[in-house]
Amino acid sequence: MRVLISDEQIQARVRQLGAEIDADYPEGPICLVGILKGACFFLTDLARALKHPARIDFIGISSYGKGKSTSGEVKLTKDLDISIEGAEVLVVEDIVDSGVTLHYLMHVLEQRKPRSLRVAALLDKPERRIRPVEVSYVGFRIPDEFVVGYGLDYAEDYRNLRDICVLEAQ
Ligand code: IMP
Ligand code: MG
Repeated sequence: MRVLISDEQIQARVRQLGAEIDADYPEGPICLVGILKGACFFLTDLARALKHPARIDFIGISSYGKGKSTSGEVKLTKDLDISIEGAEVLVVEDIVDSGVTLHYLMHVLEQRKPRSLRVAALLDKPERRIRPVEVSYVGFRIPDEFVVGYGLDYAEDYRNLRDICVLEAQ
C-alpha cells in the first residue's frame, strides 16, 4: 500500500472546493446528495467547508461487485429521503471512473426537476471514461490505479484510512 494523496492534502483541497462552491452558488441552501458509501467522508468534510446552509441526503447506487472493475450494471439500492424539486443539487461522489454510475444517476435526478444539478467528485480517473459526465468540481485527477481510503473500498475494506492509497496487485 502506497500513499497517493495524504490526509493533509485532502483536507486542504476540500477547503478550497468548499470556497469555490460557496462563491458559485446563489444564497440559500445547497442540497448535497452523497452516493453511498464511498462519498460519506468527502460529503461530511465538504459540508463543513461550506458557508452556505447545506441539506444532506444519500442515495445508494451499485455498479460494482467485489472486484476492481465495473460490471456495467447499475441499480438504485436506496432512494433519497427528501424531494429535490426546485433545489440546488450537488451530487457528491468519491471517484468518477468509467462514468457509468454518474451517467445513470444524473438521468434519474434530472427527472425530478432540481433547479440546478452539478457534480463534485473528490477523484477523477479521466482515462477510464466510457460514459460522458460533466463534473463541475474535481478534487484530484489521478492516473489509472486502484485506490482505497477516505471512503473508498476494496471489497468493503480500507474505507477508514485517512490517506488515499494505491492498492497494489492482490
Ligand atoms: P464508475 O461507474 O465506473 O464511474 O464507478 C464509480 C464507482 O466505482 C465509485 O463510486 C467507486 O465506488 C468505484 N470505484 C471506481 N474506481 C475505484 C477505485 O480506484 N477504488 C475504489 N473504488 C473505485
Ligand atoms: Mg465502491
